[in-house]
Amino acid sequence: MTAGAPPIPRAAGRLPLLGHAIPLVRDNLGFIASLRAHGPLVEINLQPGKRTLIVQDPELIRTMLVQLGPDLDKGRFFDKMGQLLGDSVVTAAGRVHTRKRRMLQPAFTHTEIARYVDIMRDQASTTVAAWRSGQTLDVREAMVKLSLDMLAKTVFAGSLDEETFLRLRRDLSVVMNGVGARIMLPDWIERLPLPANRRFTNARDAVRATINHAVDELQASGHDTGDMLSMLLHARDEESGEQLTGHQICSEILTLAVAGTETTASVLSWVLYELARAPDLEGRVHAELADVLGDRAVTFDDLPLLPYLNRVITETLRLHHTGWLVTRRTITPVQLGDWTVPADTELAYCQHALHRDPALFPDPLVFDPDRWLDDTQPQLAENAFLPFGAGKHKCIGDRFARAELITAIATIIREVRFELAPGQTVRPVARATVRPGTLLMTIARREGSDRTPTARTAT
Ligand code: HEM
Repeated sequence: MTAGAPPIPRAAGRLPLLGHAIPLVRDNLGFIASLRAHGPLVEINLQPGKRTLIVQDPELIRTMLVQLGPDLDKGRFFDKMGQLLGDSVVTAAGRVHTRKRRMLQPAFTHTEIARYVDIMRDQASTTVAAWRSGQTLDVREAMVKLSLDMLAKTVFAGSLDEETFLRLRRDLSVVMNGVGARIMLPDWIERLPLPANRRFTNARDAVRATINHAVDELQASGHDTGDMLSMLLHARDEESGEQLTGHQICSEILTLAVAGTETTASVLSWVLYELARAPDLEGRVHAELADVLGDRAVTFDDLPLLPYLNRVITETLRLHHTGWLVTRRTITPVQLGDWTVPADTELAYCQHALHRDPALFPDPLVFDPDRWLDDTQPQLAENAFLPFGAGKHKCIGDRFARAELITAIATIIREVRFELAPGQTVRPVARATVRPGTLLMTIARREGSDRTPTARTAT
């Protein structure tokens, strides 16, 4: 691509009309991991005739996200999301993105998150209260439901009655699953008269109708219900003074539901899996909770006071990152390290592979929360550890997500233990996010001294 720069290798396994679809469909994570041997940049074909450069070097990934970020489009993954859900902060690029992000930012401030933690904890408590000892739980399914409840309640708590909320939650769940499937499939499948396509379209239209109705009612009443919906409705762009339309609010909420539910649910599931596999780690989390909280429920102020649980979450975000392909697209030729990349080239990177690179993380497949105690790790992590991305598209929900993860795990672990069937190993599956395949675990409710152990030093 540039005279003097080494040629960019192309991955093996490409077929004329299919590109690399076969190795990707067969084992996308294995295929992406195998590309590491090719060095900093490697070409694959996601669509026939279209080049995608997989960026593998941490410095180049940062260049792509931070320095080049403002001048790149978001690429195929996000195009697809926009087609399905409408334009939003997640799909927008350039100045449109900057304006959308400015309008949403007030919903994610420190003060707002402090308020949301109470809602998150209540949802987690209600979820755990329904579990019985001896019950086998589909943990991923339970965590998707809990994540959706936590997000939907923060968005709509004051604006919808319970019946409408339950209907909305059901419809959102259909939309989320549909988006996950459609990102992987060729576009023409969406146009077939299949029951799944009808279900998706009906659910998406129903969600839009419900949100539109809530927006109209809120507008007519002039009330501030204190939830995120009300905040978006009253948000005003500080430069232009413009407000979001009902249609724009719908698109933003739909994309928040997709961006903020699958991701959180996958991380929660992996945390519970890792703790079930390692009773000593789980014991440390439980002892820390007993030490810091005693008998009371977790609050926003407690979140930074739980260093071991924080490290468990960080290590889960490393080993089991939910992102397997984050895309961008060049609009003009750009300089990426030694290479000049032409306009209209897809770029992508894989957090899952980056976080498991043995050159960056010693013993990368070992789940070791204490690796984050190592003084050298934070330095390394600046480029190699990107749980929430970097640059202008960095996750707007990063603090929200961490608050959810800690609040939910703290609430769950105090009430129950999970047991994995002997010999069960759970493989990651990459769809819209990287999530555990089937994750069935048995519940044991904590009683007596198991509930409030004598505190051990957990840090
Ligand atoms: C553990 C959970 C989460 C993970 C791992 C995660 C990860 C990410 C990453 C890596 C990006 C950057 C994508 C890119 O570079 O294009 C991102 C963007 C985004 N995330 Fe999250 N996220 C999580 C939870 C959430 C939550 C809870 C919300 C909202 C409530 C959310 C909303 C968003 C939005 C709106 C963007 C787009 C930001 C922009 O382009 O300006 N995420 N997320």
